[in-house]
Amino acid sequence: MNAKTVTFFLFLVINCIYAQQSVDQKVEELLSKMTLQEKIGQMNQYNGFWNFTGPTPEGGDQKIKYEHLASGLVGSMLNVRGVEEVKAVQKIAVEESRLGIPLLFGFDLIHGYKTVFPIPLAEAASWDLDAIKRSASLSAKEAAAAGINWTFAPMVDITRDARWGRVMEGAGEDPYLGSLVAAARVHGFQGEDLSSPHTIAASAKHFAAYGFAESGRDYNTVDIGLNTLHNMVLPPFKAAVDAGIKTFMNSFNDLNGIPATADAYLQREILKGEWNFEGFVVSDWGSIREMIDHGYAKDRKQAGKMALLGGSDMDMESSIYINELEALLKEGKVKLDLIDDAVKRILKVKFELGLFENPYLYCDEVLEKQITGAEEIIEATLDVAKKSIVLLKNENRILPLKKEGQKIGLIGPLAADKTSPLGNWRIAADNNTAVSVLEGLQKFKENQINYAQGVKLINKIPEGFHEEVDINTTDQTGLEEAIALAKKVDVVVMVLGEYGFQSGEGRSRTKLGLPGFQQELLEKVAEVNPNIVLVLMNGRPLIINWASENIPAIVEAWHLGTQSGNAIAQVLYGEYNPSGKLPMSFPRSIGQLPLYYNNKSTGRPGADGEDAGSVFWSHYGDEKNSPLYAFGHGLSYTQFEYTPVILSSNEMRKGSSIMASVNITNTGKVKGKEVVQLYVQDPYGSATRPIKELKGFQLIELNPGETKKVSFTINEELLKFYNAQQKWVAEEGIFYVFIGTDSTVKLKKPFELL
Ligand code: GLC
Repeated sequence: MNAKTVTFFLFLVINCIYAQQSVDQKVEELLSKMTLQEKIGQMNQYNGFWNFTGPTPEGGDQKIKYEHLASGLVGSMLNVRGVEEVKAVQKIAVEESRLGIPLLFGFDLIHGYKTVFPIPLAEAASWDLDAIKRSASLSAKEAAAAGINWTFAPMVDITRDARWGRVMEGAGEDPYLGSLVAAARVHGFQGEDLSSPHTIAASAKHFAAYGFAESGRDYNTVDIGLNTLHNMVLPPFKAAVDAGIKTFMNSFNDLNGIPATADAYLQREILKGEWNFEGFVVSDWGSIREMIDHGYAKDRKQAGKMALLGGSDMDMESSIYINELEALLKEGKVKLDLIDDAVKRILKVKFELGLFENPYLYCDEVLEKQITGAEEIIEATLDVAKKSIVLLKNENRILPLKKEGQKIGLIGPLAADKTSPLGNWRIAADNNTAVSVLEGLQKFKENQINYAQGVKLINKIPEGFHEEVDINTTDQTGLEEAIALAKKVDVVVMVLGEYGFQSGEGRSRTKLGLPGFQQELLEKVAEVNPNIVLVLMNGRPLIINWASENIPAIVEAWHLGTQSGNAIAQVLYGEYNPSGKLPMSFPRSIGQLPLYYNNKSTGRPGADGEDAGSVFWSHYGDEKNSPLYAFGHGLSYTQFEYTPVILSSNEMRKGSSIMASVNITNTGKVKGKEVVQLYVQDPYGSATRPIKELKGFQLIELNPGETKKVSFTINEELLKFYNAQQKWVAEEGIFYVFIGTDSTVKLKKPFELL
């Protein structure tokens, strides 16, 4: 056998052994070859924003980034996208560095890549887990075709405060719904085979309690007890771990005095300890450095030490690990085993993604062309957008609109807007690519659609980085035209709300009414034509008390993405019977915030939250306690009737279960979907308990006149909570079961857990 054959034979044998080795063995073997600097390099992440297809980056940190890439001192990049750019950057790391370790390319796939899906809060309003999973799966497919192999999503922060701009990114106020949505998104992004070129690693963020920022002001301090942390904040993160998520991202906030980035209780004791999470934790943008601003680290070096000890494995854009860890190790301030642990976690994800077999797995120009903007993805955005729309009010059956013989006037600054519907996280999308409401309605040609903007959109900053517009607060020049139009039509559709960047990161607000001059526009139009359908286009609950009193129909249409206008038009014309339910309470007043349905009773609840005949109960003198629109609220063009809940037994032994059932009838004239919701109350426990908690839901569809029995299994697992002894247990005693159409359901049935 000649030398060549022997070598080839040996190559085959080694390859076969290598393929059989477990990922962990491969990780250990690679780690053993790495220098300290190369190990720290894996923990270092840089942002993109430059173009490798052009000349090599000139000067500044671009030059350092290039040098570090070429010497294996970068483990991952973010905001590098498109096969050409990703390939160019991957090539440097793989072909110029000593060990050729491939890079992760991370990106915020919050609601779509080039083709934009509804914002996550909207998708949560669909309560359709299959649609949500498909949305994540197709977003991943489109982004993976563009070179992305890791997303900083799903954002699973529970929040109860609409002042916080990032409510648009999550699944609202409830941990049960939030947990199921989190799992659906993880399965969507990561699929069944992470080494497929169509699936990517996901990241649960922001760990933890970022949604509880004081006063709803972004990045603000968070101070909550263990009861709220474990019962409300952590469940969706645990659901993401149970769904097999590969990475976590920590949060900017300090939690009870400790910045999450350095919080060993969160990241080591709970996440990597109790939950046995085997992936890695990336810091949020610059959050390691920001510990200096928090007043938690005196300098960059101490920040690096605290972050590593606290369980942060990768440094996004602080350049602290790469510049400080070697000295910290030499000075004995950190131990090598923590660095090795972080590096192994990172390498493991790279092996599982198949990047070592083929570093260019996600760099296929042909696939990129085939998949970007594919019909399948566009159709999916339309499908989930329709399902995300919530019908808040529909008096005198003004909806659905008639396709013939009805003159429609379309008014509002967002009615013809083709950019705002794309929402906040739309980095890879092109502005002006959403189907506007005007375009959607015009598809129903039988109707003459007359349009008037009413309120001017003004460019707040020059076009370019973010074509950010403001909804004008003073310019009333469009008012007369709008009123004139309203006078001569049968029905006025008004599209009002927030432009795309009025919610999202860094967009906290202290006023939640219709921004700018829109409220005045609405009232002026209503003076001349009461037949108004208000379509809200927004990223958070708004305060719409006047509209709720005076406008016959209100549709919550969020920011629905690329197919926004078509989805809205199909709902307004009844092509799709709205089925969405609110994942967040709509407040009557900003003074009520934080506001949520699963609140505690307090020692003075009054008479079921209403007047108790004296001032000495938990209430406001100038506002009701209840929301304007409740969690779980959403109407249909048909009506549903519920029978009282029936329990299979009024006792349940631990380890067993009982059934709770209702019959639901569609008593209307059209087919419709209903989200049947199960709530449970634990009226007393070793710690105070919410007055009710969502513990199940079923999305059903009924034809007119059809009745269906809906049953839920109630078992011990469902009744567990983090109790006063800091244990997850179900405590014996009485429980109440509610089944209804939203969280205001009153009828309940008791059973006893023995
Ligand atoms: C941002 C966000 C985070 C995002 C990251 C990278 O500041 O807080 O959600 O994933 O930076 O863009």
